[in-house]
Amino acid sequence: KRAFMGFDIDEIICELNNAHDTSDDKLKFLLERNGSDDRLFAAADRVRREIYGIDVYIRGLIEFTNYCKNNCLYCGLRRDNKNLRRYRLSRSEILCCCDEGYSLGFRTFVLQGGEDMAFSDDDICGIVSDITGKYPDCAVTLSIGERSRESYEAYFRAGARRYLLRHETADISHYGKLHPPEMSLENRKRCLYDLSDIGYRTGSGFMVGSPYQTTENLISDLRFLQQLKPAMIGIGPFIAHCDTPFAGQKNGSLTLTLRLISILRLMFPYALIPSTTALGTIHPEGREMGLKAGANVVMPNLSPVGVRKLYSLYDNKICTGEESAQCRGCLENRVSSAGYRIVTDIGDAKKPAER
Ligand code: 5AD
Ligand code: SF4
Ligand code: FES
Repeated sequence: KRAFMGFDIDEIICELNNAHDTSDDKLKFLLERNGSDDRLFAAADRVRREIYGIDVYIRGLIEFTNYCKNNCLYCGLRRDNKNLRRYRLSRSEILCCCDEGYSLGFRTFVLQGGEDMAFSDDDICGIVSDITGKYPDCAVTLSIGERSRESYEAYFRAGARRYLLRHETADISHYGKLHPPEMSLENRKRCLYDLSDIGYRTGSGFMVGSPYQTTENLISDLRFLQQLKPAMIGIGPFIAHCDTPFAGQKNGSLTLTLRLISILRLMFPYALIPSTTALGTIHPEGREMGLKAGANVVMPNLSPVGVRKLYSLYDNKICTGEESAQCRGCLENRVSSAGYRIVTDIGDAKKPAER
């Protein structure tokens, strides 16, 4: 049971969950060790069941534009990718996705897109208020990248209450290897702190196994999340895209991603943790495994089937073929086969009881 360096897995698991201040050395040991993660998964699942039972929250993902002004080295939507046909959904097309989603039981809509300046603040506000006006019992989540504080305030006034923006990596020099010089970790963090200051429930997160990532970088990610305290934490393996500078790079590993999901569940018992599409892309049962490792959210695609292939963040993305019109039904089976159940619920993060 005891391995090199004298660390005991059960002891680390216990510390992660209670004290919340496991040392960097112990995290490094946990992230790098060879051997079974069964005890780690079981501990994370226990914590998840104590707080969320077997409930899995669903978010309807609407990928409304694949235009992007940025040039992140890892992403297929980067502006220099000239091999990609670009699209934008109209306001009525977006609302149509919500209509379908609502009847399928979705009570959260995530509007995700590249950083597409053709959508002005007024456009975004109009779309948000369209949806909240028609579906007052639903939450609108935005995931449209870095904008000014004033823009974020305007979207909030229009009714958006949640915002997803992964920090991608909390290490400044690693950030520089994944992004062009005009992007900065500083501005990314500024956005995240502005968002939570305004009152958004924020989601952040990072890629696992992105090029040049070290264990120390991952520990920085965990430490940054301890400071930010987001409501949602989304992670997924890096997957190379053939039309980016990272074509041919190694994909992130399933094992390490699952291990990190469990660590996140133990460190952040109340967090919303999605079992991501990227996880389902590197392994056919990746999302089921993510749930068993501590994740409690799935985000099926609600985008029109005709554009799904065009939202190509990485190669071989699942849920883009003709079979994908009913991700909702497909996921229902997957979630129940893993031993959990999808609920029709707005799905806010639970909070610790007042003591
Ligand atoms: N592999 C995995 N995830 C990626 N993302 C972008 N490109 C890739 C890739 N090649 C993730 C980023 C972004 C989210 C929308 O998709 O983390 O925040
Ligand atoms: Fe644009 Fe986001 Fe892709 Fe970067 S990760 S190129 S900001 S869509
Ligand atoms: Fe999309 Fe199965 S969840 S096709």
